[in-house]
Amino acid sequence: MHTQHLQAETFLSTLSSRRSTKSIVAPGPTPEQLEQCFKAATFAPDHAALRLWRFVTISPPHVEAFAELAIAASLRAGLPMREEKMASIRRWLKNVPLLIGMAYQMHHDHPKVSALEQSLSMGAAVMNLQNSLHAMGFGTFWSTGLGTYTDEVPAALGFDSLDYQFVGFLSVGTIQGDMPLAVKRPDPQEIVHAWVPNPSV
Ligand SMILES: Cc1cc2nc3c(=O)[nH]c(=O)nc-3n(C[C@H](O)[C@H](O)[C@H](O)COP(=O)(O)O)c2cc1C
Repeated sequence: MHTQHLQAETFLSTLSSRRSTKSIVAPGPTPEQLEQCFKAATFAPDHAALRLWRFVTISPPHVEAFAELAIAASLRAGLPMREEKMASIRRWLKNVPLLIGMAYQMHHDHPKVSALEQSLSMGAAVMNLQNSLHAMGFGTFWSTGLGTYTDEVPAALGFDSLDYQFVGFLSVGTIQGDMPLAVKRPDPQEIVHAWVPNPSV
């Protein structure tokens, strides 16, 4: 019981110390570390065991080639993309040792599991992935830039929009410099209330 309590404290302090950061460099996780993190992703809540989570890894030197693909696809799709935005994407991805594209297989008109539930399960899997990487000391950032909402970028990564919903990218690497400062989080009282039956009903 005591050991379990200590484990819970460590777990909770890990959850409560995560910050997103784009300021990362090599090295990224080893293949073994990454496999452990993807394993953790498969423990997301999964109504009807659809196992819908999908990931694609992009590593150097392909990260830079992917950056060009994402920029060109975004321009072709008519997304606003000024010169300085392109330059900042290139500067960022030049140092990124691992980019993970994330999608889920859509189960159209599933009798039990709505599109919302499928999307929530994917979000939970991403959170497990992000927290596992954080527990190992890596910095991550979930982004829906890089042409996430074009047809072309997900398709180029193997996710046809008829079958898959693409949910963005996780950049992963060694945090450069200090961990970003903690930001103020809401007090639990601000986001929770206890329901009581309405006496007049
Ligand atoms: C689905 C999803 C997509 C996101 N896409 C972007 C994005 O494209 N650009 C961005 O600046 N932040 C994006 N964010 C927010 C960051 O990933 C991050 O959560 C935010 O900067 C707050 O940092 P924190 O996680 O340390 O609280 C996204 C978050 C989620 C959940």
